[in-house]
Amino acid sequence: MNTNKNNRIPQKPLINIRLSDKKDAVIILDQRLLPNTIKYLELRTIDEMYDAIYTLKVRGAPAIGVFAAYAFYICCQHIEVEDKKYKSDECNQIAEKLKSARPTAVNLAWAVDRMLAAHKSGKDLLCECQAIHNEDIAMCKAISEHGLTLLKDGDCVITHCNAGALATSQYGTGLGALILGAERGMKLRAYVDETRPLLQGARITALELMNAGVDTTLICDNMVSAVMQQKTLRQISAAFVGCDRVAANGDVANKIGTSGLAVLAKHYGVPFYVFCPASTFDKSCKTGADIVIEERNATEITELYFKERIAPKDIKCFNPSFDVTPAELITAIVTEKGIFAPNEV
Ligand code: MRU
Repeated sequence: MNTNKNNRIPQKPLINIRLSDKKDAVIILDQRLLPNTIKYLELRTIDEMYDAIYTLKVRGAPAIGVFAAYAFYICCQHIEVEDKKYKSDECNQIAEKLKSARPTAVNLAWAVDRMLAAHKSGKDLLCECQAIHNEDIAMCKAISEHGLTLLKDGDCVITHCNAGALATSQYGTGLGALILGAERGMKLRAYVDETRPLLQGARITALELMNAGVDTTLICDNMVSAVMQQKTLRQISAAFVGCDRVAANGDVANKIGTSGLAVLAKHYGVPFYVFCPASTFDKSCKTGADIVIEERNATEITELYFKERIAPKDIKCFNPSFDVTPAELITAIVTEKGIFAPNEV
């Protein structure tokens, strides 16, 4: 039985990150509260910026890069100027603190290092953070256009976590083709898994795809095999996911559960596509084994999002936030430059 009731009129996408009108704060949508509450926060201090990344108020690999660039610009406004430049030691401290908030997504360190380099070479920091944001908007649009060549009217995509506009800048990476296709009048369907433990799929992807006019069905993470198995009923055409870091051999780190989805996709003959900007490639990681995987607080598994704690007190927990999908399970990687086999990257 298809219980989809979400044929709603497409809505305008929510803005996730912007500078305040006075350019003295970064304003973010608090993504922890979605989909029930739309609340914007104004952040000024380095501790607020660090906390926003660490607690996933702002999240998604490209988005935390864009946010960190703005955060660097705002935090620099509070430090002393020496020879017409912010003091380098203090700039470095801000950069290190921002980069330490989350380890896996390469975009965070990439954007902060770019801001540091801009400072060193005397570039205007406001222009630089706005350029990073504008480039991300253009990259997402280009990724979405390339992704759209993989889809035809009536297709059904399965996705994991959230790689939409809220994780990036407009359209998104993994969701961009679906959103762009729906905008152009294509009839597209999507299966969205919840993405335990922080439910980015249920809370954010489901909202973004419904708002875009994609026929969206929510499933629990452990239902993927059943959905792919029911070939004639569900007709999954492809799996589309975002990613946080691509190693030199084409292994890809993304939200915990992605590698399981890829294994199932291979088993059931579903093509598995990864979407990301080229800035997500990290040649310093030879293989996925070199990628640092963030481990998060056990309370995310045992109590967050539940009315009551669901596990025995003092239970030992393992809460990795990402996993590595081996290159051999990936059909292709889609970037702003085109569609590539993982061993071509
Ligand atoms: O922990 P999150 O919510 O930041 O994880 C997000 C993901 O894993 C996304 O799939 C990835 O960052 C790509 S976002 C376009």
